[in-house]
Amino acid sequence: MLADPALRADPYPLLAQLREASPLSLMDGALVVTGRHRDLAAILRHQNASSERQRSMVAPSGVPTGALSFLSLDPPDHTRLRRLVSSAFTPRVIAALRPRVTEVVDALFARVAEQGRMDVVDDLAYPLPVQIISEMLGVPREDDEQFRVWSGLLARALDPQFADPDPQRMAGAETARDEFDRYFSRLIAQRRAHPREDLLSLLVHAESEGDKLTESELLATCVLLLVAGHETTTNLIANAVLALLRNPDQLDALRARPELVEGCTEETLRYDAPVQLTTRVARGPLPVGDLELPEGGVVLMLIAAANRDPDVFDDPDRFDITRKPGGHLAFAAGIHFCLGAGLARLESAVVLDAFARRIVAPRLLGPVEYKANFTLRGPARLDVGFDGVT
Ligand code: HEM
Repeated sequence: MLADPALRADPYPLLAQLREASPLSLMDGALVVTGRHRDLAAILRHQNASSERQRSMVAPSGVPTGALSFLSLDPPDHTRLRRLVSSAFTPRVIAALRPRVTEVVDALFARVAEQGRMDVVDDLAYPLPVQIISEMLGVPREDDEQFRVWSGLLARALDPQFADPDPQRMAGAETARDEFDRYFSRLIAQRRAHPREDLLSLLVHAESEGDKLTESELLATCVLLLVAGHETTTNLIANAVLALLRNPDQLDALRARPELVEGCTEETLRYDAPVQLTTRVARGPLPVGDLELPEGGVVLMLIAAANRDPDVFDDPDRFDITRKPGGHLAFAAGIHFCLGAGLARLESAVVLDAFARRIVAPRLLGPVEYKANFTLRGPARLDVGFDGVT
């Protein structure tokens, strides 16, 4: 139902219905769907909620096989692997990236100014996060286009396929994963010989120290960081620009009060979540509202519905950048809380600030077309006209 292409333009009425009906028991109780904020907040922190989707008795989860990244692992493996990279994402490290992010954004705006028009996705929202995470990892810039294809294939495979698994989609994800592995294996060999000051070298060094991580865990971690930093932040930036253009009073407010830019990012995360849902598998009895999921059962959590739960947010369908921030679940919660949240927030704030201050009379050109995914939600392209760039 959620996969219906007709829903992509506006899934929110259906998400509201699903939230009202939550928790919804399907497949004889083996699959439960919920969009209630209080259910998600509790499940994401529950110790019987496993991220190891292969425990599911319901269906293929869409996650490609091969070594799993820590996104799909439970403690103690999750703890061990997450700890290895978390030093690269501390608030201090991220804050120090601001000048570089600003430089990249300025360069992108200079190109847009020359063109006289822009596709927000291709010209801003995609290149910024890719360039920054590539630089952090130490991946050569000229390989961006390859990642775009592989990463798109992996993103498609994230959509749950309980009823009707699509072999083509799974095969595409497998191929992408193989290509990524081959690619990173080459880079890892180079870093072993010649370490540098980048995340890849940090991971290679950890691997060389013995029992910290295996080579296949190293590969899975690299792919996770590259892909998690790709599609999601792109969608956040594009969803934010779209919401601002559709709500001109909010764009005016941001122009008048640039300090609202963080609020604008938080409100977009709440109002039009780039990651619309996630799943957990019960590794023991798992309460979902007044239901209890048996071991091996799956809970599908509608983040995008929980973010508009009227029990938590006043007037939830309104895009309001002055709203008191906090409470949304766009980055999940608990031990898997998004590691890149600070980076995504920084990138979004720098772009949105520049967009509001520098683009003269922006306007939407044409209808908005969405990407085929429904787990990761964002426009495929977003054509915007303007009268100039200051
Ligand atoms: C995990 C959302 C950007 C790296 C997650 C999760 C969500 C999420 C919902 C939890 C998934 C789950 O446990 O089921 C987002 C959104 C982003 C974003 C909405 C942008 C707006 C980034 C960036 C990076 C990143 C820029 C890194 C470069 C990760 C990693 C995890 C994760 C490594 C796994 C954490 C763990 O399992 O402990 N993200 N993410 N994310 N994210 Fe993000």
